[in-house]
Amino acid sequence: MGQNQEPEEPTKEDRHGRDYHRPVLAAEVVELFRPVLPGVVVDATFGGGGHTRRLLDAFGDRVRMIAIDRDPDTAAQAEGLGVTFLAGDFRDLARLLDGIGVTGLRGVLFDFGVSSHQLDTPSRGFSYRKTGPLDMRMDPSAPLTAATIVNTWPVEDLIRILREWGEEPHAERIARAIVAARPLHTTTELAEVVADAVPAVRRRRGHPARKTFQALRIATNDELAAISSGLDAAIDLLEPGGRCVAISYHSLEDRIVKQRLREGAGECVCPPELPVCGCGARAELRILTPKPVTPSADEIAANARARSARLRAAEKVAA
Ligand SMILES: C[S@@+](CC[C@H](N)C(=O)[O-])C[C@H]1O[C@@H](n2cnc3c(N)ncnc32)[C@H](O)[C@@H]1O
Repeated sequence: MGQNQEPEEPTKEDRHGRDYHRPVLAAEVVELFRPVLPGVVVDATFGGGGHTRRLLDAFGDRVRMIAIDRDPDTAAQAEGLGVTFLAGDFRDLARLLDGIGVTGLRGVLFDFGVSSHQLDTPSRGFSYRKTGPLDMRMDPSAPLTAATIVNTWPVEDLIRILREWGEEPHAERIARAIVAARPLHTTTELAEVVADAVPAVRRRRGHPARKTFQALRIATNDELAAISSGLDAAIDLLEPGGRCVAISYHSLEDRIVKQRLREGAGECVCPPELPVCGCGARAELRILTPKPVTPSADEIAANARARSARLRAAEKVAA
């Protein structure tokens, strides 16, 4: 699913909620890992296990799957699959794997964002369409909720996250409207405040709360910092010839992946105004996707949430 965002028009199959989560670009993921086996592959965003199942179906005993998710509810999806499930944040990949004595990997998969199940469960508070508490935590034991951000953060901080992480052009109006409406308790209350705060023309271009919810979700889960650390850890743990595959659903995620892979491929990523290279780029990766891979029209027709997906992949080169 294009798990980061709610589709404007859910497909029939999405509405019927047939699956916990429908994996995106699954055939492409299988083909990217085919040459690296046999060996250990980490599914760092296990979710409903859709990608893991596809890899097990394709490779059987040739792959040992390690499944990681920061949402402990996903553990139930791993039962009976014959995988090692680790509840945790992929930014702690090295520590999590060290705990089970795994040091070298043939592959790591990241499929960022939230699962359909998380998005479609009102009590998790991710959806602007379904009434639920302002929660948005992927890990329900984490201390920060969206309610804390919405009801206690200074207006300047709300403006900043709406601008930077929502890419919301009406950040200031929305942030001031939120502060004026405090306390807010539910997702749909918040969605209404946002809808009332934006110009009428905006209401005709998709749901006006989409970008606000994206920003709050990123802030609640510290998602972008986790992606940077997770990619660093994964690249570090790959054996020569091993591959890292990452699926993003919005430009902020994709930019981090693109930049990290380019840096790994030895491309200098310093800002042009820097007189000398400070990023220390060295070639530890070979980029396998000069352009991001996107889902076919058929896949998008079957799963509207795949619409914004962009896959990038790279292979570790010998040191
Ligand atoms: C898009 S879903 C993955 C779906 C999965 N590929 C499938 O086919 O079922 C993303 C999952 O990653 C998890 N997740 C997001 N950020 C994470 C992080 N930093 N560490 C561990 N899990 C994370 C979410 O809890 C969610 O279950």
